[in-house]
Amino acid sequence: MRHLLSAADLDHAGAIAVLDTAAQMAATQSREIKKLPTLRGRTVVNLFFEDSTRTRISFEAAAKRLSADVINFSAKGSSVSKGESLKDTALTLQAMGADAVVIRHHASGAPHRLAHAGWVDAAVVNAGDGTHQHPTQALLDAFTLRRHLAGGSDNPDGVGLDLAGTHVAIVGDVLHSRVARSNVLLLHTLGARVTLVAPPTLVPVGVEAWPCAVSYDLDGVITDQQPDAVMMLRVQRERMGAGGGAASGATSFFPSPLEYTRTFGLDARRLRMLPDHAIVLHPGPMNRGLEISADAADSDRSVIVEQVSNGVAVRMAVLYLLLAGEREGWS
Ligand code: CP
Repeated sequence: MRHLLSAADLDHAGAIAVLDTAAQMAATQSREIKKLPTLRGRTVVNLFFEDSTRTRISFEAAAKRLSADVINFSAKGSSVSKGESLKDTALTLQAMGADAVVIRHHASGAPHRLAHAGWVDAAVVNAGDGTHQHPTQALLDAFTLRRHLAGGSDNPDGVGLDLAGTHVAIVGDVLHSRVARSNVLLLHTLGARVTLVAPPTLVPVGVEAWPCAVSYDLDGVITDQQPDAVMMLRVQRERMGAGGGAASGATSFFPSPLEYTRTFGLDARRLRMLPDHAIVLHPGPMNRGLEISADAADSDRSVIVEQVSNGVAVRMAVLYLLLAGEREGWS
C-alpha cells in the first residue's frame, strides 16, 4: 500500500521503520542541516477541510525540509465554500500534479475515499478524519514515548526498540478522539499496554473489542497501576451537540465541566501520585483548566512541546517513506 490512512496500516516492522527513519530525520535537524534534497521536484498538497495548527504547520515544515514544493489548501476561502465536492477538489489537485496529498477532513473515511476512488494518483496521508484516525499523531506520540521510556544513554532515541513493558493511560474524551483510536492501535502494535480512562458517557460503544483495558477511575489507575505515561485528551466540545452530546451519541457532557475536571482532570495532586519517571502527553490544542491544569501542562514531566517538534521529524519520515523510500511492513 502506498498511503497512510490508519495506524492499522502499520505492522510492527513498519512502525519501527517509521520511528527509526524519524530518528534519522531528527538527527539531521539537530545538526542544523535544515534542508535535505530528498523530495526536490515533488509536490505535497496540504488539503485541510478542518482547522489545525500543529499538524498543518508541521506537515508544511516537514515537506519543505525535504525540499518538496508545498501547496497549502484550506477549505475556508476556497471553492469548497461555494459547494465544490471532494471529487472535484481532488481532480483539481491531480491536474496540478500532486505527488502526495495530506488531508484533514471532518468526515470519517474521507482520506480513504480520496485514496481509493481513483481521483488522484498521489499518495494520501490522513491528517485526521472525523472521530476515526490520526495516524501521524500516534506515530509522533510513540516516537516521544520511545525516547523517554525505551531509549537509554547509549541509544537515546530508542532506535530499533518497541514499547513492550510500557503502560500508557489515555484519559478523557475517548468517544470523539481519533487520537485515542490511532494510539490504541499503534501502541498495541508496539507492545505497550494501554488503559483508557474516561467517564462512561465518553467511552465509545464497542470499546470491548479494542486491544486495551477500560477504567472509569483515574485516581485508581494512577495509584494502583502507576502508568509510565499519561496521555490527556482534549474534551471536544465542538463535536458535542447543544444538549451536551446528542449529535455525537454522548448523552451528556459528564456531568459538568467542573465535575469533569475534579474527576478526570490532571492536576498537581495527581501528578505527584505518578511514578518519578512518568511523563505527561497531550496532542493539543489543550483546554487548560478543564482536562489539564496549567501546572501539569507546564511541569517538568510534560513533553507536550516536545511532541510538537517530534511531529516534524515523524512527518518528514512518513513523506520520505511514501515518496522516496522502501515501505516494508506497510500493509
Ligand atoms: N494534535 C493536533 O492534531 O493538533 P492540531 O489540530 O492543531 O493539528
